[in-house]
Amino acid sequence: MRVMNAGLSAWMWAEKFTRLPAVDTGEHPEFIELAIAERVAVTDDGSVVALTFVAPDGGLLPAWFAGAHVDVRLPSGAVRQYSLCGDPRDRSRYRIAVRLLPDGRGGSAEVHASLLPGMRVWIGLPRNAFPLAVGGFNQPLSEVRLIAGGIGITPILPMARRLEAAAVPWSLIYCGRTRESMAFLGELEQYGDRVRRHIDEVDGPAAVTDLLNGLPKTAAAVYACGPAPMLDVIRQALAQYPDVEFHAERFTPAPVVDGAEFELRFAKTGETVTVAADETALDAILAVRPDTTYSCRQGFCRSCVVRVLDGEPEHRSQALSQRDIDAGHFLPCVSRAQETLVIDL
Ligand code: FES
Repeated sequence: MRVMNAGLSAWMWAEKFTRLPAVDTGEHPEFIELAIAERVAVTDDGSVVALTFVAPDGGLLPAWFAGAHVDVRLPSGAVRQYSLCGDPRDRSRYRIAVRLLPDGRGGSAEVHASLLPGMRVWIGLPRNAFPLAVGGFNQPLSEVRLIAGGIGITPILPMARRLEAAAVPWSLIYCGRTRESMAFLGELEQYGDRVRRHIDEVDGPAAVTDLLNGLPKTAAAVYACGPAPMLDVIRQALAQYPDVEFHAERFTPAPVVDGAEFELRFAKTGETVTVAADETALDAILAVRPDTTYSCRQGFCRSCVVRVLDGEPEHRSQALSQRDIDAGHFLPCVSRAQETLVIDL
C-alpha cells in the first residue's frame, strides 16, 4: 500500500481567483459572500440537508476539483468545513450536504436550524486536502475503489462523476446504518452495479472484506471517506496490497503520533502550559484559553493559527506556505515541538 499525502494544488489555484468580492478575515483564507439558492433534504429520514450556493450576481464561482471542501461561516461566527458534493463542471453553484449530529459541536445543528434559502453566507474559497489524481496516474489503473461511510459520500460523489467522465474503471461501496439515512441514493442509481450499498440494518456491520472485495492487487487505488475505525481497518488490510494507493479523509482528527512533551510559553502573560506527548498543542491552549478559535482540528482550515516568537516548531501541516512559516505561523491542532515555544498569546 502506498499512502498518499494530501495535496493543496487546487487551493493554491483558487487562492489566486479574486473575481468575486472578498473579505480579509484576518488569519482565515479569503471568503466570498454567496446566496443560498436551494435547501433540500437528501435522505428519507431528513437527517441530511443539501444546500446550494450561488453568486448573488449570478456570476461564475471559483473552480474546484473532486475532493475539495469549503469553509462555511455560520451566523454565530463559527466556521465549519464541508465537502463540495455538486458537479465541478458547473461553475454557477456550490453544493454541500450536512448531517444533523445531535452530539456534535453545534455546527450541524446551526446549519439545520438557521441556513435557509435566500440568506447570504460567507463561504471560503475551495481547498482540496483529498484530491483525486485523475490525469496524474503514472500507469493505467486497473480500478479505483471508492468507499464511503455515511456522510462520507459527499467528497466521494464528485469523484465518481469525475472517474466516469474520464472512463477510469471504478466502483463504489457505500455504507450506511439504514437506507433512510443514506444521502444521494437516487443520484447514484445512474451508475448501476458500479455502486454497491452496504446497509448495516440489513447486511450487518461491514467487514473489511466487504469493502475490498474484488479489488485488484496491482495498479489500483482506494479513496475512502468515513469514520476513523473504518479507515483504520482499510489501512491495515491494504498493508497486504503493496501496489495499491490509499487516499483517505477522516471525520475526526487523527491521534497524535510520535509526540514528545513540550512547553508553550505565552509571551503576553508569561503563563506556561505543558503539552503532553499524546495531546495536541491546541488542547493544551484550550485548557487555559477556552475561547481560542479553531475549527477542523486537522491542520487544514488555519483557523487556530498562532505566531511563534521563539523556539523551533515541528510543522505537521501542509496548509502553511513557506512565507507563513517564515512569518512564524504555527497550527497548534497538529504541529508540535521538541522544546519550549514562545507564542504570541
Ligand atoms: S483547527 Fe483547523 S488548522 Fe487548526
